Amino acid sequence: MTRRGCFITLEGLDGAGKSTHAGWMADWLRQAGVSLLETREPGGTPVGEQLRTLVLHQSMDLRTETLLMFAARNEHWRTRILPALERGQWVLCDRYTDASFAYQGGGRELGAPAVRLLEDWVQQGQGPDCTFLFDVPLETARARLQQGRDTADRFEQEGAAFFERTRQAYHARVAEDQARFRVIDARQSIQDIRVHLDASLRDLLRTHGDPAMHRRVQDA
Ligand code: TMP
Repeated sequence: MTRRGCFITLEGLDGAGKSTHAGWMADWLRQAGVSLLETREPGGTPVGEQLRTLVLHQSMDLRTETLLMFAARNEHWRTRILPALERGQWVLCDRYTDASFAYQGGGRELGAPAVRLLEDWVQQGQGPDCTFLFDVPLETARARLQQGRDTADRFEQEGAAFFERTRQAYHARVAEDQARFRVIDARQSIQDIRVHLDASLRDLLRTHGDPAMHRRVQDA
């Protein structure tokens, strides 16, 4: 079967504020008439959610960590994301493979080739149609992260150098595939960010939606 829905992913450092916008984007798309699967990684399936608990809280070797991210992803991709896209649903996923390139490949210094190997094996040339990267300088991300959190997971506990490498690896992904990425300057106010998101979502409806969805948004 061929993919008919649009696959959108959200990326950024911990503290970039992406989760604040995920719910708003999902509401926007549903109001435009899109049948939507809203999900996240690691997670999104019963197996994936168990792996999430393990990988966020249990210390382990870097290769084990990377394999578990991709084990969760394989389950998610094959049992939920791909079937939804084939049914014509859209998928909005909070993090996907770019996070493995950024965190394992960059932050933990595994390097991109090992991550690419697993990406090719699991995804077989398929991936997101559009990725929003919520980009903030390190200091902003860390300041936001410290607000209102009492228990940090294994990634949130990492130091500044880790997050600097992670951010650089995200930017390397953008440089490789500029057509797919929309980089959002997440230092802006929530309202200003929503203006950009609104324009980008309208664009996506134009290129990937059916004409009725597009009309509904034009009339709004
Ligand atoms: P979240 O807090 O945005 O849900 O993400 C959980 C953490 O998992 C976050 O610190 C980034 C990390 N992560 C990876 O290290 N590699 C991955 O492939 C994914 C999807 C997430």
